[in-house]
Amino acid sequence: APASRMSSANFPLDPEGHTYHVGVKMGRVANRILTVGDPERAHRIAKSLDSKDFVFTSKRGFTTITGAYKGVPVSIVAIGMGTPMADMMVREIRATVEGPIQLIRFGSCGGIGTRSQVGLIAVAKDGAASVTRNNDFFAPMYAGNAPDESLSPYVISEACPADKEISEALVDALRKRIGDDSVITGMNATADSFYSSQGRLDPGFNDYNQDLIEAIRKRHPNCETLEMESFTLLHLARCASFVSKENSIRAAACAMIFADRKANDFIAPETVERLENDAGLAVLDALVACPF
Ligand code: URA
Repeated sequence: APASRMSSANFPLDPEGHTYHVGVKMGRVANRILTVGDPERAHRIAKSLDSKDFVFTSKRGFTTITGAYKGVPVSIVAIGMGTPMADMMVREIRATVEGPIQLIRFGSCGGIGTRSQVGLIAVAKDGAASVTRNNDFFAPMYAGNAPDESLSPYVISEACPADKEISEALVDALRKRIGDDSVITGMNATADSFYSSQGRLDPGFNDYNQDLIEAIRKRHPNCETLEMESFTLLHLARCASFVSKENSIRAAACAMIFADRKANDFIAPETVERLENDAGLAVLDALVACPF
């Protein structure tokens, strides 16, 4: 049981039982969690909570705010960026929350699909795949040789599904708060870099990624967005749920489209603030919508 987890090299805890990176102990985090990247976004959304009972920023850059929304206990956790941060958050929160968890991500992303435009919100209703740099493709370069063309420079995974009921609640709540035309659904691809594995061309590096966005779209035609966290959340939710019902995590993800990779357009700061305010309420609505 998570409550009896002991500190060890395998799962370090401080003497009071706080986890190593997120810095939370049993009872600090609610079983409904909204996770974002930007800590300022977490604080902005937290203004809509009925109360704030616990606020903590860890030395490793995680901010946790626990309170209630419409009378229901919720936590908002800002994790910064990337799959390692997402991994630490899910595991440390799983270890310090008793019973089933519901998790929603409200992040930002780039749009690569036909329906993506800057300022829209994309719900990863069809799940997320991972896109990782295949390091062995590059390995011959260490000795000054051409890369191993028998390998692909990037690995595009199968899609991991999102929780259906929570994803539907998320779409409904977003449509109510920001309007039908501002919400799209599809798949997400989660990359291990903002640059190379999202198909950004960088003259300073040999990345072999000119065809990557096209390859992602070919493998997953419903893939609308690229970011750096959603797959990890959905994937770990499935792995936790496979342990036991009591240990289960149900997860869904949405993201504001900051970059239009086809039109080469980037969002204005005032649009972000408006979206965070309006869509922030919608994600809280969705977080308390589904019974356990
Ligand atoms: N976040 C990402 O990971 N990629 C983008 O293009 C925009 C936001």
